[in-house]
Amino acid sequence: MAFRAKADVWMKGPWLSLGGPRALGTRAALASKAVRPFEAIPQSRNNNWMRMLQIWKEQGYENLHLEMHQNFQELGPIFRYDIGGTRRVSVMLPEDVERLQQVETLHPRRMLLEPWLAYRQHRGHKCGVFLLNGPEWRFNRLRLNTYVLSPKAVQKYIPRVDMVARDFSQALKEKVLQNARGSLTLDIQPSIFYYTIEASNSAFFGERLGLLGSNPSPASLKFIHALEAMFKSTVQLIFMPRSLSRWTSTKTWEEHFEAWDYIFQYANNCIQKICQERALNRPEHYSGIMAELLLHGDLSPDAIKANTMDLIVGSTDTTSFPLLMTLFELARNPDVQQALRQESLAAQASITDNPQRALVELPLLRAALKETLRLYPVGLILERLLPSDMVLQNYHIPAGTLVQVFLHSLGRHSASFPRPERYEPQRWLEVKGSSTNFRHVAFGFGMRQCLGRRLAEVEMLLLLHHVLKNFLVETLNQEDIKMVYRFVLMPSTFPALTFRAIS
Ligand code: HEM
Repeated sequence: MAFRAKADVWMKGPWLSLGGPRALGTRAALASKAVRPFEAIPQSRNNNWMRMLQIWKEQGYENLHLEMHQNFQELGPIFRYDIGGTRRVSVMLPEDVERLQQVETLHPRRMLLEPWLAYRQHRGHKCGVFLLNGPEWRFNRLRLNTYVLSPKAVQKYIPRVDMVARDFSQALKEKVLQNARGSLTLDIQPSIFYYTIEASNSAFFGERLGLLGSNPSPASLKFIHALEAMFKSTVQLIFMPRSLSRWTSTKTWEEHFEAWDYIFQYANNCIQKICQERALNRPEHYSGIMAELLLHGDLSPDAIKANTMDLIVGSTDTTSFPLLMTLFELARNPDVQQALRQESLAAQASITDNPQRALVELPLLRAALKETLRLYPVGLILERLLPSDMVLQNYHIPAGTLVQVFLHSLGRHSASFPRPERYEPQRWLEVKGSSTNFRHVAFGFGMRQCLGRRLAEVEMLLLLHHVLKNFLVETLNQEDIKMVYRFVLMPSTFPALTFRAIS
């Protein structure tokens, strides 16, 4: 199947289209050459001080993905730059992600996120896996995998997520049918956002918040605003050394701490409620991830709290954007939408019996989600602090270097994805052999990949399944939507979508 092309002219930089040796040299060819020193890696000409000044003035770095893409076009698939004494290398080819995974140890390390860490240190809170490195990270992570990521865990929380997805679809249907024409045009983003919070909350705490349909509570709204403020201030603070930003960005630090205070207060209330309920009665049935963690006692209550905080923060403002962008792409690619609807209708009975069947009976829908994340990777950058020396693109990279993979550029590289500008879920079903490896890395890779991956996938899959069975989705907006980096890569505007009930 081939679908509409949306031309992204800037994607075809000189090295991408010429396919010269620096860009696409095979590994055999590269191996025959002597490894070049680190200093020979092309260097980004961006002046770091100017960049910091710009971020400070503009209160953000919304075009980071475009700036990095420009660098790859001009310099090739690897370039370097220094910030605050850390050597940094940027890459964008799947083969380099593969190499990074090959050198991983038992404790893969990312850079610590200074503003988030500073808050926890200042307030005396423990860190969860997102902010830990080393043996403590591994200890926590192995225990969490059992209750969050394993197939057994998914099997337990999938019926809860399915229930929320059905309720979402039902609530939308009621709104649509209130209109005489049986269709409704709206900005669906807020509703999708509440859906993801509701579904995640149900999986974490075994409880419903009641965010669908009716007006959300003031506390939920304040929590959502606090998260937005926290992400915004994070971007303003991460590109500047703390020793400098404490003088230049006092107000931003205050806003950052204030936002975290509310997030912690909100999440603590949820956690506290479950702890009290568990102290009073032991649940007979599965009642969410956190209850399982408390019941099995593999982690201390403080560690459970810290990790639950990471799960709550990790699940907010991530899953909703790929869901919205998938609906948008399906609205402007009706043939793809129709193919997905047929798949969903054929699998309907089986999934109603057992929601877990969605994972095997909706291959095209799963491919569509990969395709969305290829074009719109919500977690823009994957990064690893190298544990040992290695070779990337035939350059020597010393231990301690921070290697960053830019997923926006990886997903739009024509050698990995022919006609990358097209929305073609089918491409994920057609690829053969090793070329599939390390091309879908939107959730990261190896032991340190996204802990919430399966929950996110299930939330997206089930919502789309129920919506596609019940509605035709249309849009008048045929243009690409500009994406902006606000710690996550998100759409700058939300397209109006029309939902037409299928009788
Ligand atoms: C479409 C949705 C999502 C995307 C694209 C995404 C992407 C990512 C990425 C790229 C990483 C870094 C992986 C690495 O370094 O290799 C990550 C880490 C993480 N994510 Fe997600 N994520 C999503 C949803 C979620 C959800 C729903 C949760 C919580 C339930 C979550 C919780 C986490 C946590 C806790 C980590 C840190 C894991 C660790 O360091 O051990 N994410 N995510």
